[in-house]
Amino acid sequence: MASDTPRLVFIKTFGCQMNVYDSGKMLAQLAHDGFEPTDEWRRADLVIVNTCSVREKPQLKVSSFLGPILQRKRDTGRPMVAVAGCVAQHDGAEFFRRYPAIDLVFGPDGVPRVRELVRAARQRRVLDDQFLEVADYPFVQDLVPSAQREVTGLVTIQKGCDNHCTYCIVPSARGVQVSRPLEQIIEEVRGLAVRGTRDFTLIGQNVNAYGAERGGRSRFAELLEAVHAIPEVWRLRFTTSHPRDMDPATIAAWSRLPRLASHLHLPVQSGSDAVLRRMGRQYTRAHYLDVVAELRRVRPEISLTTDFIIGFPGETRDDFEQSLALLEQVRFMASFSFKYSPRPGTAATRLHDREPVSAEEASDRLRVLQEVQQRIQQESNLACVGRCFEVLVEQPSRHDPNQWMGRTSCFRAVNFPAAPSMAGELVQVRITQANPHSLQGEVVA
Ligand code: SAH
Ligand code: SF4
Ligand code: F3S
Repeated sequence: MASDTPRLVFIKTFGCQMNVYDSGKMLAQLAHDGFEPTDEWRRADLVIVNTCSVREKPQLKVSSFLGPILQRKRDTGRPMVAVAGCVAQHDGAEFFRRYPAIDLVFGPDGVPRVRELVRAARQRRVLDDQFLEVADYPFVQDLVPSAQREVTGLVTIQKGCDNHCTYCIVPSARGVQVSRPLEQIIEEVRGLAVRGTRDFTLIGQNVNAYGAERGGRSRFAELLEAVHAIPEVWRLRFTTSHPRDMDPATIAAWSRLPRLASHLHLPVQSGSDAVLRRMGRQYTRAHYLDVVAELRRVRPEISLTTDFIIGFPGETRDDFEQSLALLEQVRFMASFSFKYSPRPGTAATRLHDREPVSAEEASDRLRVLQEVQQRIQQESNLACVGRCFEVLVEQPSRHDPNQWMGRTSCFRAVNFPAAPSMAGELVQVRITQANPHSLQGEVVA
């Protein structure tokens, strides 16, 4: 390798678990070229900003994050700067034009080719926003180089999305759905298991449609069975699920597979049929509630989390009340709620027959919904006090070095005093105190 070969790489990750996973895969591949990760961008020879465009806010963060890095680049000629991810996919050309100091721009499909892209960018500026061939999509098998044991691990099972939710930019950023071959998924799970991973999350934009692209039949339940059969998989999770694709075989998995975690993130987006229709979600409120009832029948202790979009064009006060009522009815353990953010090129921006909800009204509704969620969360945390849970010990608590953090099967975070030797172990923890966002407990024999 030439003496001027960059050695330290810094990756800043915005957005969802897909991006977290992709950033890991980039590190894994770049390690073959002698790159080592650093957490200080000022020391890095290569800075990659992995971007998210799902709402305007995360997209705006990209430019402000790039500011000082590009300044340094202009002043000193270093580091090499790459913009990757979802913003890069559809705004890449714009970034390239606007910031001459950027060396490399590539979308999510550039991840499997990151080594060649970085090499090429040492000779000339590179803009790569092409989607790869769907057949034989090269999912990266290399594992993230890691010195320490990671108790939890993500494993991608598909890329892209075949749905057309009218608000959503993801399909245009990540392309059509491509399912990863089952053997490759199993290989990755086994590889992580050897390193001590015990809690696995299968990830994709619509995992329930695994294998169902281009008219196929979903093979998701089959996949769950195969991964669950690996003995080191103490806990199995997946995200994200589309309510329309929660088929009976998948729901039945909670009765057949004991180590399938008692938690599901099932984004509902709205409690109003009129809004769901205009969002192109392809299910009704009643269907969603049926799925919830079925899930609770097969696994009574299952905890549910969700996403809401507030202030979608034409959302009336009554539509919003229906979201609130659904929240009260299902009593989600937690929910992520966002004000609708118009994304360029998406169908919702062309819903001209509908009045946009004013920014003030949307903020007001969001506040009301979040207050209700907060109350439900506190009530449900309080109800845990005195109960015992099986907790997988993950890592030292961020707030107190004498405490460890672990999760219950239903995805509640619990802090408790523990010996470092307990990391990666399953312990019984009695809950002693409920905080707004976590539980405090003590290990019982
Ligand atoms: N594939 C997943 C996640 C998509 S993005 C799914 O189908 O649920 C994650 C969340 O961001 C969505 O669930 C939605 O609640 C939110 N979101 C997506 N586009 C948005 C937009 N234009 N405005 C506001 N929130 C949005
Ligand atoms: Fe977006 Fe809908 Fe696909 Fe989720 S299912 S990524 S919300 S288009
Ligand atoms: Fe964002 Fe792309 Fe994920 S838009 S939410 S990083 S798929």
